[in-house]
Amino acid sequence: MPQFEILGPRNPLFTGRAIELNAIHQYFSHPPLEDRLVPRIYPLTGPSGIGKTQIALEYAHRHRQEYHALFWVQATETFFIEKDFREILTCVAFPVNVATLRPRELIASVHSWLKSNPDWLIIFDGITSAAALTALPKEGSGNILLTACDDLPLNAKT
Ligand SMILES: Nc1ncnc2c1ncn2[C@@H]1O[C@H](COP(=O)(O)OP(=O)(O)O)[C@@H](O)[C@H]1O
Ligand SMILES: [Mg+2]
Repeated sequence: MPQFEILGPRNPLFTGRAIELNAIHQYFSHPPLEDRLVPRIYPLTGPSGIGKTQIALEYAHRHRQEYHALFWVQATETFFIEKDFREILTCVAFPVNVATLRPRELIASVHSWLKSNPDWLIIFDGITSAAALTALPKEGSGNILLTACDDLPLNAKT
């Protein structure tokens, strides 16, 4: 059981997708050599409505017991990322006044927690802009699962 968890309910109607779910698990448990540095990022991309969010949600539920912390972030708008990041800091009792943090400090605080705590999974669902990629943690021993539209420049992890 994760000690810290922010995750919506499982979809009882979820079906199929064994290939995708196995591929995610395979990547996170046996990453290719060049990705041994952490955090690891697994992107689910494709057109809207194809089932990316559902795969991510199902993956999180199936493997939640493997993680110390599990956070779902709605990444469609900067506003939602900030809202969910505040929730993460509250969830882990991060010693700051969450209400007064500016966006940059908010992101830095979440990244700081992720850097100093192991075995987390963070899901960024519905990345629509390169700007949202700045919210991805760059350091720490964990896994990032993200969903995004096809044409996102995922290499632009600045
Ligand atoms: N594996 C699945 N099992 C059952 N329903 C699914 C599955 N994948 C998608 N759906 C249905 O299709 C809808 C769209 O899927 P979603 O994951 O939101 O697509 P995307 O994130 O790619 O836009 C979901 O709300 C759900 O009703
Ligand atoms: Mg989606």
